[in-house]
Amino acid sequence: MFKITFEPSGRQFDAAPDEEILTAGIRAGLSLPYGCKDGACGVCKCKKLLGTVAHKAHQATALSAKEEAEGFVLTCCASALSDVVLESKLVGDESALPVVKMPVRVVQLKKISEDVAVLRLQFPAGNTFQYHPGQYIDIHWARGSLVRSYSMASRMVMDGGLELHLRHMPGGRFTDHVFLRMQEKEILRIEGPFGSFYLRESVKPIVLLASGTGFAPIKAILEHMMAKGITRPTTFFWGGRRPHDLYMHDWVTAQLQSMPSVRFVPVISEGQAQDDWQGATGLVHQAVMTAIPDLSNYQVYACGAPVMIEAAKRDFTGQCGLPEEEFFADSFTSEADNNR
Ligand code: FES
Repeated sequence: MFKITFEPSGRQFDAAPDEEILTAGIRAGLSLPYGCKDGACGVCKCKKLLGTVAHKAHQATALSAKEEAEGFVLTCCASALSDVVLESKLVGDESALPVVKMPVRVVQLKKISEDVAVLRLQFPAGNTFQYHPGQYIDIHWARGSLVRSYSMASRMVMDGGLELHLRHMPGGRFTDHVFLRMQEKEILRIEGPFGSFYLRESVKPIVLLASGTGFAPIKAILEHMMAKGITRPTTFFWGGRRPHDLYMHDWVTAQLQSMPSVRFVPVISEGQAQDDWQGATGLVHQAVMTAIPDLSNYQVYACGAPVMIEAAKRDFTGQCGLPEEEFFADSFTSEADNNR
């Protein structure tokens, strides 16, 4: 085992020589930043201060040869060859919540749009489950042969259980099961909470950015802000191809009646004449840049398709002055289930 240390928080964990640093950190309960877990998005990139690592194959857009030579590391595809010290301001020193594995019962399966379902999962009596609003769980399905990640869509476990939003990806093994065969009362095995996507303490104004079911953790964060009386100036941009992709548009407008510090900007990219769409159009991250060209004093929380996250991070930090450490993202979506 090698010792992995993150500075400046000083958080430490052990990693086996053949194990990705990200995997070992998550197992140890740390909130490490990441998106694709596959060397494609660059969200897990951090600077190496000491030690040696070996990288597996990854995209040059996530980590260029020059960056690698300068000592940058993608934790999702790097394993340690010695004790390693990495620098990431995104690794907090807050105490991580315990990761648990347990069976849960599907108590509600409700289709709320053409291709999105809300799932409610109930824990066995006497079990508690804590998470930061914005975090996610893994569902281990088909006797553990398939793992799918979904964000909690409410701020805490409510009476009705844990809320998840799933988009149907036809041909995807898990979402085909959910949409075509799943019955209420089915038992699933979950593990979590995971992820570094949750609201950080700050006085900075906030941009919340979602595409599709990337809305789920943003909904949890909005509920958290409401419950805690957080009134930082906030703009929530939610993008979809057609208006029905914004499957809880009415929930957002109703919720924001009691949250005057939050503004909602729905954005449609492929509207058609019959949609009669009067709102913003185009790519959702570009709508942010048009509305707020200077992001230098902001925090951005983005969740949705990897391509949107990648473009948002690149353009916000490259063109709008957003400090890299103020961009928080989760980029897995139901699309992970596509054709697998
Ligand atoms: Fe590591 Fe995407 S490149 S999480």
